Amino acid sequence: MTDQFDTDRLDGAARDILRCNDRGGYTVPNGRVYPFQWNWDSAFVALGFATFDRERAWAEIETLFRAQWDDGFLPHIVFWQEDEGYFPGPQVWGTDREPVTSGITQPPVAATVVRRLWDGAVAAGEGEAFRPRAEALFDKLFAWHRWFADHRDPEQRGVVVAMHPWETGRDNSPEWDAPGESIDVSNVGEYTRRDTGHLNAKMRPTKLEYDRYLALVQYGRAQGWDHAKIATGNPFKVADVGMSMILLRANRDLADLADILGCDRSAIDVWIARSEAGIGWLWDEVRGTWCSRDLLTGRHSGFVTSASLLSFYAGLSNPRKDAAMLAHIERISARVQFLMPSLDPDDPGFQMVRYWRGPVWAVVNWMIGTGLAEAGHRRWAERVRGDTLALIARKGFYEAFSPIDGSGSGGDDFSWTAAIWLAWSTVPAS
Ligand code: GLC
Repeated sequence: MTDQFDTDRLDGAARDILRCNDRGGYTVPNGRVYPFQWNWDSAFVALGFATFDRERAWAEIETLFRAQWDDGFLPHIVFWQEDEGYFPGPQVWGTDREPVTSGITQPPVAATVVRRLWDGAVAAGEGEAFRPRAEALFDKLFAWHRWFADHRDPEQRGVVVAMHPWETGRDNSPEWDAPGESIDVSNVGEYTRRDTGHLNAKMRPTKLEYDRYLALVQYGRAQGWDHAKIATGNPFKVADVGMSMILLRANRDLADLADILGCDRSAIDVWIARSEAGIGWLWDEVRGTWCSRDLLTGRHSGFVTSASLLSFYAGLSNPRKDAAMLAHIERISARVQFLMPSLDPDDPGFQMVRYWRGPVWAVVNWMIGTGLAEAGHRRWAERVRGDTLALIARKGFYEAFSPIDGSGSGGDDFSWTAAIWLAWSTVPAS
């Protein structure tokens, strides 16, 4: 599949991007647009480093967890050093922590990545050397997952309830439009965005969306970033299909790590059982798809997004639902040149360059492709992997890509795109 590409050159370019974005122990997603450490970006970046520098891959995750709070919370941004190029910066968040961090989290892919790093170390005969580091990370991952159970599932439904669109990693997905209407933006005040100074505004979230993002930051700050208070009164509470699937998968990997390391897995088994029993709440029978659901109104979003297709990655198996999701893939594949658009191209709100309303994201493709391969849907798994590699080979290491014509959007020289290239250029989807 990769023979058509100049793999050696592209592997080298991908490694150069990771090295260039390395700030010493952590990697910025993109030096201009995102000049700090981001949570799930770092997890994916570790997969890339693991292909050529195992030590550095582990360090990426370890650095991220140095910013973990005492209650297990792991922030979505760590502001290791000052940089004027991003808004909202540390003063806006006002979490009053050392290191300075944001007050929301991001999709928990790290346990799945650590599981892979461990397997890589064992395969290289270095398992014993890395065991103490795996044990230390296990405790931290466990504390983070416990934090999810304590603070991001207020009704104990076995899902992950996002308290901010940024928490989902899919900032401006249309899934947040209706739930966002109840956010009062009248007191947000004046502010200057930095993202639209670096990038074409057509590719970015709108002013209304930014007002909502900021209103929620101001709300969290007013609660002193007390996550119990936020879980009670936050004006935005959406059970995110993406995070729910990702956490279920991550708990399965964490349970495997517990077995490997001789740790107690009983609490993890409880979380897994709760998710397996409850995640059906995110199935929309009318649209025949997995999707997010507003906890405050009970309404399904009704959108088919790339996150809907993470059920395979989560290890869920239900013949009727799986067939419906595969039918969505088949239908979508006839409408676009490159899988997997972040929003159904048959949706009237589909926009090929506007961030999470259309473009293809390599990291989501990696999860979708991995899940499809594991579930035995090899043809689609290889298609998703092949499309991802083709986009990068033709256009470069962009933040995201148009599923229609493949054009790159957002920032270039993006770390997680380089990492997914490295993770997928030499091995089939597994
Ligand atoms: C954007 C993306 C988010 C990512 C961040 C840094 O906010 O939506 O998923 O983590 O950029 O790359």
